[in-house]
Amino acid sequence: MQNLKKILYSALSLTFLMNVNIPVNSIEKEVKVYSGRHYNTDRGVYKKFSEETGIKVRLIEAAGISLIERLKREGKNSQADLILLVDAARITNAAKAGLLQNIESKSLEKDVPVGLKDKNKEWYALTRRVRVMVANPKVVDVSKIKDYTDLADPSLKGKVCLRNRKSPYNQSLVANQIINKGESETKAWLNGMISNVSQPFFPGDISIIRAVSKKKCGVGIVNHYYVARMLAGVNGRRDTLYAKRTTVLTPNPAHVNISAGGVAKYATNKNEAISLLEFLASPEGSKGLAAPTFEHPLKEVNQNEIVKNFGEFTSDNVTIEDLGEKNSLAIKLMKDAGWN
Ligand SMILES: [Fe+2]
Repeated sequence: MQNLKKILYSALSLTFLMNVNIPVNSIEKEVKVYSGRHYNTDRGVYKKFSEETGIKVRLIEAAGISLIERLKREGKNSQADLILLVDAARITNAAKAGLLQNIESKSLEKDVPVGLKDKNKEWYALTRRVRVMVANPKVVDVSKIKDYTDLADPSLKGKVCLRNRKSPYNQSLVANQIINKGESETKAWLNGMISNVSQPFFPGDISIIRAVSKKKCGVGIVNHYYVARMLAGVNGRRDTLYAKRTTVLTPNPAHVNISAGGVAKYATNKNEAISLLEFLASPEGSKGLAAPTFEHPLKEVNQNEIVKNFGEFTSDNVTIEDLGEKNSLAIKLMKDAGWN
């Protein structure tokens, strides 16, 4: 009896649902974002976009590399509409793996500067980050460290700390040096710099800043925003104190990396994905992403005093595409030099 009631009830509700007329414009538009940008503050920018367009943003976050693996595994069944990744090698690898699709957008072409976008129009940069050196003036003579190549100087024996080879940030830096200085000069730089490393290779940029501060070494290479965040107190008071004991040295010109986005190959909400990408790359959107994370927007410099104190930088104008192309050679040279 109970079961019969249930069956009748579900049949009735089904009929009810089928008879309801849903006006077309009330069907919610949405865009599903797979993001390798692990910053909570991005949500504020998505919210702004939703308010302006009525398109709901559904966020699926994951670390960069596993995100690419996941998309490859999911193939045509992937839910992803828009893919956001950090680092030149990651976004160019995603394009190479056929995970993105070519799109036409006048506003993206206008808002994203040359060198920071794909010639096949599969991805566009959204924010910029500078790979800088962080030094402890009590351990090393900071006046003698002006460029990444200075870290190969024999006077820094035992005083250099580096993040491990797996970090795409370092792979892109090495790719950058290959483009700027050629393969043999890059090899010589790597050999010299790696022979100056005495610590085991570090798992992340933050641990390098801490090690430099604690005089475990004298100088390391990190993305500028990690130091900025520590100084700003984002990671707590102890890290602020650590960061305060260090000096940021910005090479001029500097290696500039990006976070970027592209529409997923099998996006079901392609138009919505393009709209969101356009919003994120617009001056308002790019600033919205970059300001709270201490990154740089696409066209301006982050106006936060902490970041401004790191000094002005000039990009060395190496294109993101070129960085991607030199990625495998960079990894090979790092391996050969003993960068673990
Ligand atoms: Fe990062």
